[in-house]
Amino acid sequence: MKIFLDSADLEEIKKYLPIIDGVTTNPTLIKRASTKINMKMENYIDAICAIVPEVSLEVVSTEPKEMIKQAKFLFKKFGNIAIKVPVNYIDVIRILSDEKIMVNATLAFSVEQVILATKAGAKYTSIFIGRLADEKKDWLQVIKDSIHILKDTNTKLIVASIRNEDQFRLIALENPDVITVPPKILEGILNHYKTLEGIRRFSKDTTQKYEAIFK
Ligand code: E4P
Repeated sequence: MKIFLDSADLEEIKKYLPIIDGVTTNPTLIKRASTKINMKMENYIDAICAIVPEVSLEVVSTEPKEMIKQAKFLFKKFGNIAIKVPVNYIDVIRILSDEKIMVNATLAFSVEQVILATKAGAKYTSIFIGRLADEKKDWLQVIKDSIHILKDTNTKLIVASIRNEDQFRLIALENPDVITVPPKILEGILNHYKTLEGIRRFSKDTTQKYEAIFK
């Protein structure tokens, strides 16, 4: 299972580089990161693409012709990226995929949509389980069914919209192709309170004699 970071924040991306295989962004995440950016947006995205093996960038138009134009622009400008296109735009997904542009069919909420995304030739499809969980839907079953459906296809599943550590664990146990995780969840997982307590205790117990060996 690959881990992507669900963030457009360059500092956060740098922080988690040792454990991530890629990054997913969306207009909301880019808007959030923008408050900290003091460089041109294209340079900023360039900086992300330069350090991360795989980046997903979303088109912003809702008109198919313009979406295709935007996708081609992004692909030409930033190179090896996946273009996020809402899953219901099957014509756009098909055209871009036929032109060997990687598409991440996004905003999928059902296994039925996952089936159609793979038929349209998407390289990835992103299923937003947190938003399903918000509505008390059986999101875990949707993941299980999607994994089953995509088994012998060329489309990879990205499980997205993760809300908490329990979801992270339950998803990881299903071993999807990719899970994209917000930084605050990785932060929480890494900084288990017993880990922090242990660090504090070991620091307190460190003697000058022991410290001397490092000098
Ligand atoms: C995935 O690619 C999306 O960026 C993301 O997971 C959306 O999550 P949200 O429901 O927290 O907005």
